[in-house]
Amino acid sequence: MIVAIDGPAAAGKGTIAKDLAQQLNLAYLDTGSLYRAVGHAVLKAGGDPDTDADARRAAETLDIEAIDPVAIRTREVGAAASKVAAKPDVRAALLETQRRFAHHPPEGKAGVVLDGRDIGTVVCPDADVKLFVTASDEARATRRWLELKQADPDLTVGDVLADLKERDRRDSERASAPLTKADDAILLDTTDLSIEAAIHAALDIVGRR
Ligand code: CDP
Ligand code: CDP
Repeated sequence: MIVAIDGPAAAGKGTIAKDLAQQLNLAYLDTGSLYRAVGHAVLKAGGDPDTDADARRAAETLDIEAIDPVAIRTREVGAAASKVAAKPDVRAALLETQRRFAHHPPEGKAGVVLDGRDIGTVVCPDADVKLFVTASDEARATRRWLELKQADPDLTVGDVLADLKERDRRDSERASAPLTKADDAILLDTTDLSIEAAIHAALDIVGRR
């Protein structure tokens, strides 16, 4: 079984995906972490995420085993990720890894769940279940602010809202695999849902398939 979860930043995709993976014995791939790792590598090398050659080199030499899960979660890396993610060469370099994971689940797993922006449209158009998870801009910004403010006490919800809107705009307007709901994806709006209620709704959708 392949479950595809797409949607804008901080909508609750990863939270839902991880829980589905645990409850349904699926392997989980956070595809955003791949783009974040490419963005992080460009910044670390002193490159420019808007420069094609810098972004392509980082994507083509990405070592997935070496991704630093803490370092890739910053605001700066999020912005760099969405810049490198607009580049067709970067997307091409990461596509094979994602498809291989989707079609060859680790031994003992009943299938996979992937979350990102283009899983239901480009990476796994043949997925068994597609969810498009969303929430209001304000709910998403508040959720992400709660995560980031420990490391940056001066950060405001307004700062985070501006970041998310800019990133969503870039992700939706790019020519290559833009963020968009697949025709056969089921919309799940988590604005007024607790984490438990959102997971329950997602399990219900998967169960009906
Ligand atoms: O993966 P994505 O960026 O879409 O979102 P996430 O990392 O799963 O969720 C962003 C934050 O919102 C996390 O801190 C979740 O705990 C929180 N969240 C929430 O408060 N209510 C929900 N219904 C879902 C997630
Ligand atoms: O967790 P959050 O929703 O903030 O973002 P993410 O899932 O970690 O993704 C970071 C960035 O990677 C996004 O803003 C997109 O630009 C890009 N991305 C993408 O283009 N395609 C994917 N399948 C996943 C992420």
